[in-house]
Amino acid sequence: MEKIFLVLATRNRGKTAEIRKFLKDFPVEIKNLDDFGPIPEIEEDGKTFDDNAYKKASFAARILGIPALADDSGLVVEALGGAPGVYSARYAGESATDEENTAKLLKEMEGKENRAAAFECVISIAVPTGPALTYEARCEGEITTAPRGKNGFGYDPVFYYPPLKKTFAELSLEEKISVSHRGKAMAEVRNEFDKVIIWIKQRLAEAKPPKPEHSQSHG
Ligand code: IMP
Repeated sequence: MEKIFLVLATRNRGKTAEIRKFLKDFPVEIKNLDDFGPIPEIEEDGKTFDDNAYKKASFAARILGIPALADDSGLVVEALGGAPGVYSARYAGESATDEENTAKLLKEMEGKENRAAAFECVISIAVPTGPALTYEARCEGEITTAPRGKNGFGYDPVFYYPPLKKTFAELSLEEKISVSHRGKAMAEVRNEFDKVIIWIKQRLAEAKPPKPEHSQSHG
């Protein structure tokens, strides 16, 4: 089967490797933004994960002229009215480190009895003309009172996952992917990827200008 191209709207090598692994059995050649020359930064100023995922995927698809996949994710804490949400990466300030964000979260959660939280992930697959497919998943857990574990990134050390009785930072990468928001969303993409390929091919064919009726080849 003829391969399709898909660009991941990220420069993150870990994410790229993870997604390549998920889609390794399909006729798809996966690139990321580092495979192309400099392109303008995409501002993640949407109000929802969905807005941001679509914004990143459609921008990359339009500017590069090939289908693109983007994900957007973050932590949603019940007792904080859904914060940090789309601000997860910059909760403690524009260029805050993971440690600073985690420390701010623990401070905001001081004295709170309701520790319920969820990681959410939205994946958007867009074609250059605009249409997109969306996949969503969440993973429920609780916010600890102190960091625990050394693996992972972001809020992993303070996100306790009751079914495995560990924080995300105490899980191996394989264990985390099998239960995490991103892992579940990617598994859904993989389960439907045969149909996604057909959908992409149809959208690309629609976008091609129709051939003139009596076209002749001159060599
Ligand atoms: P991104 O959309 O994947 O770039 O994630 C945005 C922010 O959400 C990250 O900077 C982290 O703070 C947080 N986040 C998303 N996924 C995870 C995760 O799996 N573990 C810990 N933090 C995460």
